Amino acid sequence: MSDASTAVTNVNISTVRSVPQAATALGYAVATKGAVPRALGVGRAALAANGFSGKAGEVLAVPNGDGMIVAIGIGDPGSIDANGLRTAAASFARAAAKHAHLAVNLADVDHVGAKQAGQAVVEGVLLGSYRYVGLKNDTSAGSRLTDLTLTAGASRERGVQQGAERGAVVAGAAALARELANTPPSHLNAKDIATKAVAIGAATGLDVEVFNKDQLQQMGCGGILGVNRGSTEPPRMIKLTYAPRNPTGHLAMVGKGVMYDSGGISLKPSNPMHAVMKMDMSGAAAVLSAMSALKALRCRAKVTAYLMCTDNMPSGSALKLGDVLTIRNGKTVEIHNTDAEGRLVLADGLSLAVEEQPDGIVDIATLTGAVLGALGTEIAGVLGTSQPLVDQVKERAAAVDEPVWQLPLDTKRYRKLLDSVVADMKNVGGPYAGTITASIFLSEFVGDVPYAHLDIAGPMDIAADNGIYSRGASGFGTRLLIDLACNFTPPR
Ligand code: BES
Ligand code: MN
Ligand code: ZN
Repeated sequence: MSDASTAVTNVNISTVRSVPQAATALGYAVATKGAVPRALGVGRAALAANGFSGKAGEVLAVPNGDGMIVAIGIGDPGSIDANGLRTAAASFARAAAKHAHLAVNLADVDHVGAKQAGQAVVEGVLLGSYRYVGLKNDTSAGSRLTDLTLTAGASRERGVQQGAERGAVVAGAAALARELANTPPSHLNAKDIATKAVAIGAATGLDVEVFNKDQLQQMGCGGILGVNRGSTEPPRMIKLTYAPRNPTGHLAMVGKGVMYDSGGISLKPSNPMHAVMKMDMSGAAAVLSAMSALKALRCRAKVTAYLMCTDNMPSGSALKLGDVLTIRNGKTVEIHNTDAEGRLVLADGLSLAVEEQPDGIVDIATLTGAVLGALGTEIAGVLGTSQPLVDQVKERAAAVDEPVWQLPLDTKRYRKLLDSVVADMKNVGGPYAGTITASIFLSEFVGDVPYAHLDIAGPMDIAADNGIYSRGASGFGTRLLIDLACNFTPPR
């Protein structure tokens, strides 16, 4: 795996009152009304003549010697929020992508609190400049950013810097998730992600335990083992624990870590949508990355995480249709489609999570194509057994601008679609409501612990550069999980 996520974390970030000499790309916030900053060197009429009205997301760059001065639209100064600042900062970073040292006054926008603004602007610049270099010999494809200076008035300087430090941690985590999900399956199998998790845990104050195939067998994890049966690569279950003193609650997270999803013997057709099935571990990547940020952010809740990692491959030893698997909690599942593998690995993970009786469980998974049909590529599905927990997820999702929309986990109506003649349930429902039947399946493994499920199949992959997102894996869910953990209050 290359180092684009460390490139993000290696940027020097500082907050000062005036623009430093060394900065070559200078960004200034411009609203749709009010004064235009003098430093731009042009007035509103000149900006307007070039199609720039100050709307949020607009940028207009003016050459300035070898550097550039950039007008950054922030829209109505009375309605800009942290999410708007993050996106505006990302647009600035894109406009200034040729430059190494950026300076910007976006965090000095009074309408947003100094800490919040500092955090959002750093997240926006760092994530907007993230580029996956991966296995390209031409490394000039990578981000050039080395220094980011935020300018702020005396009264906001300290708050902006404090927020900026949090923003760097959060952006580093989201970039790590992108990096993991962008990495080809040839370069990141279950063993590899376990090795990474051990190193990341050691560096970020987590306890990490790795379970191999034999151990999973002893533990009765028939779901992940069943999915793994056709693979040459062995599976790994990775348990991460963040345990602060006097925790304010205990949250468990479970991530789908299907390192490559071929569909198994229910083989996927080779269309472009399936070429991104290396990203079927995006849930596990989001969980691991979120965990890596908790100590630096002084999260007060205890968080336990389970990464369920394996390939899903066809072969002579692969899972067959009609096979029955016994999940960790003893429930039996009849396989009707080997491509519905995510729920099988999650079933073991959820069963393990429940055994510790946390105050809530959240899983995150690229689980169903159906959620793309329902919500498209920018919105994740959320379903759950506890409305208070689902509400917390929705609230944090809105706060970090990783949008989710709730679908009904309607067991009463649709549980019957999973009825099996030979086992407790089938692993697929009918042709409709695939996201809902998947979540009903999962809810069989959470007992009475408050539970929310995030289906991120839609936003896992970005087709074209857009705001903080660059083409490729999105890291979606990482910032949401961080914010959820840091604001977690036990539901019920
Ligand atoms: N990993 C896929 C879901 C997916 C599809 C993620 C497209 C991202 C983009 C999952 O394992 C899967 O194959 N789901 C099946 C379930 C079906 C067989 C019930 C699906 O959605 O088609
Ligand atoms: Mn599948
Ligand atoms: Zn899958």
